[in-house]
Amino acid sequence: MRNRLFGAIGLGAVALLLGSCSGDLPQNTFDPAGPVAQKQADLIIPVLWVAAGVFVLVEGGIVLIALKYRHRKGEERTPPQTHGNTRLEIGWTIAPALILAFVMVPTVGLIWELSERPADAMHVTVKGYQWWWGFEYTDPEMTVGYGSSGPIVTADTLVVPVGQTVDLSLEAVGGGARDAEGEADHAVIHSFWTPRLFGKQDVVPGHEGNIVFSADEPGTYWGQCAEFCGLQHGRMWFRVVVLDEAAWAAWVANEKTPGAEPSSALARQGMDLFLNGEFDGGQCIACHAVGGTEAGGIAAPDLTHFAAPTHECFAGCNWDTFVNGEPNLDDLKAWLRDPGAVKLGAKMPDYGLSEDEIDAIAAYLYSLT
Ligand code: CUA
Repeated sequence: MRNRLFGAIGLGAVALLLGSCSGDLPQNTFDPAGPVAQKQADLIIPVLWVAAGVFVLVEGGIVLIALKYRHRKGEERTPPQTHGNTRLEIGWTIAPALILAFVMVPTVGLIWELSERPADAMHVTVKGYQWWWGFEYTDPEMTVGYGSSGPIVTADTLVVPVGQTVDLSLEAVGGGARDAEGEADHAVIHSFWTPRLFGKQDVVPGHEGNIVFSADEPGTYWGQCAEFCGLQHGRMWFRVVVLDEAAWAAWVANEKTPGAEPSSALARQGMDLFLNGEFDGGQCIACHAVGGTEAGGIAAPDLTHFAAPTHECFAGCNWDTFVNGEPNLDDLKAWLRDPGAVKLGAKMPDYGLSEDEIDAIAAYLYSLT
């Protein structure tokens, strides 16, 4: 029985160890891709070695003493008891204090350094919903060219230019719905984290958190919510898409345009359902927005550029928007058929859409480039 237990623990440990050997690690803190993540790694790694030394000393001592003084058969006497040892007690008080002081100096220094908010930064407000992330570009030059000229808004992917310092303001806005006073409903704590770009920062209702970061190379960096926030916490993902200068300029120009007019008959039919359809008492536009149309809901992802190549994933990045460069119709249709069946707890209800309606709405969404 005991051997089997040890066997199971050993097997688990080997599985964990082998899991860390995978070459594809999109969320590897030890592979920083920007100055902030680099500084954090430069702090974490030496602290980790100090902690490892303490661990080996303390645990090794416990194991050693447990083995040396263990109860042996036929040995009924109580070993001699020791009470108090001044020199030892002073020693084990001073040694940890020194180790903590050694770790504290660079830690506090870096906390101060990273809390600085440079004046030349680009500003984006990050909104934590249940359960997806929304991004609002709040600088004056980042307003759209339609409607009331609000900020560029995206969901699931935060798009930034390479090398640009970005100043994120973090807000918790819950399920996205508002109460009678306009306050966010069910706002809960999340934590915003992109391991290769910056460490975790809690997103607390009623409190504005901040992260300043930049990325060294264009590419896609994976992130996820790091604070338990309800049913879908474990799948509250997002991506940071970093573009070079030319791609960034093109992205901004496209984001400023309203949602594209659909060119196919099926997509036009989908647009009509999206804007005017009523399904089991619900409407798409009650929660979603598409720039340039009357759809202006704020409770759910803004779909103005749903099919832009930078919108790599949808519904909290639970699915890729494109698979091998082609629209991922299978997963989008499964989502439209019954959101709760493919993402437990999803706030979007099952509207009982027919297959024809699903085909049309999917075609419309993929026309929004
Ligand atoms: Cu949001 Cu966990």
